[in-house]
Amino acid sequence: MELLRTKNLKVYFTQKKEVIKAVDGVDLFLKKGITTSLAGESGCGKTTLARAILGFYKPDEGEIYFENEDIIKKENITLVRENIQIVFQNPFLSLDPRYTVFSTLYEALSVFRDINKSRAESIIEKALGEVELDKDLMYRYPHQLSGGQLQRVCIARSLINKPPLVILDEPTSSLDVTTAGTIINLLAKLQEKRQITFFYISHNIKLIGKISHFCFIMYRGKIVEYGPKDLVYNNPLHPYTKLLKKAAHQELKSIPQEEMMQLEGCPFYSRCSSRMARCEKEPVSIELEPEHFVCCHLYS
Ligand SMILES: Nc1ncnc2c1ncn2[C@@H]1O[C@H](COP(=O)(O)OP(=O)(O)O)[C@@H](O)[C@H]1O
Ligand SMILES: [Mg+2]
Repeated sequence: MELLRTKNLKVYFTQKKEVIKAVDGVDLFLKKGITTSLAGESGCGKTTLARAILGFYKPDEGEIYFENEDIIKKENITLVRENIQIVFQNPFLSLDPRYTVFSTLYEALSVFRDINKSRAESIIEKALGEVELDKDLMYRYPHQLSGGQLQRVCIARSLINKPPLVILDEPTSSLDVTTAGTIINLLAKLQEKRQITFFYISHNIKLIGKISHFCFIMYRGKIVEYGPKDLVYNNPLHPYTKLLKKAAHQELKSIPQEEMMQLEGCPFYSRCSSRMARCEKEPVSIELEPEHFVCCHLYS
């Protein structure tokens, strides 16, 4: 069962009269109850895609459906607010420094229902337990918590109203490696326990390998490969996915903004060591194994 689908989604920005094609014709779907991930170098359009799903940007073209409802329509914005939550990269910036953990979570809880403080306290205690935080942290302020603890608070906030979909946009990128690992384990555990639908975004394909069931690989605003994680991760077919996997242990540079502008043919053309004359034309995606699609002329 599908929870969300985008069809030919395009989000363009104009800067100094140049068009930046941040999301350029994306067809993506999220199946219920699993973690689907989106991987690609910094600057390829991942956050823009997430923000478009959340209704922060109006797409230039294309459609977005949540449970078959068109959520680009203005009247459906409440559907988005009630059903989709997001956890951002930097927990320091996503929490109000003047709010205690309790106030942050109480505010989130009170969005959809009236709830008194003592009842809220027991719900919040449970929510903290779920993200493996001690209840004694409830009355602390953000500056009294570590980065990992703060990100756990953000995760608790995203889950507290039990939304059907949670987007995690590089939730561990601002944390040290060890803390990042514990957060990844926590997310995997929560997903397994509660069958939450996660949309997990990362520039690091190794993390995708650890946490997801299904994945999409994005390059320069386009999806170049997607399929079940085991197939895409263990048997990458697109030259870009292969590169991402090979480079997983090092920091890749971000994609220069100019490269997001004019684009014809295969998005990987300029970097691909296997390019051929026909790669000047944009490839279409082909299913090479069950549910495993690749968008590359090597296979056409
Ligand atoms: N609000 C914006 N205005 C102009 N350009 C933007 C805006 N947001 C993102 N971009 C550009 O769009 C491209 C994709 O950015 P982004 O979606 O943040 O990538 P990612 O999350 O994969 O790192 C980049 O070239 C970025 O500079
Ligand atoms: Mg981003």
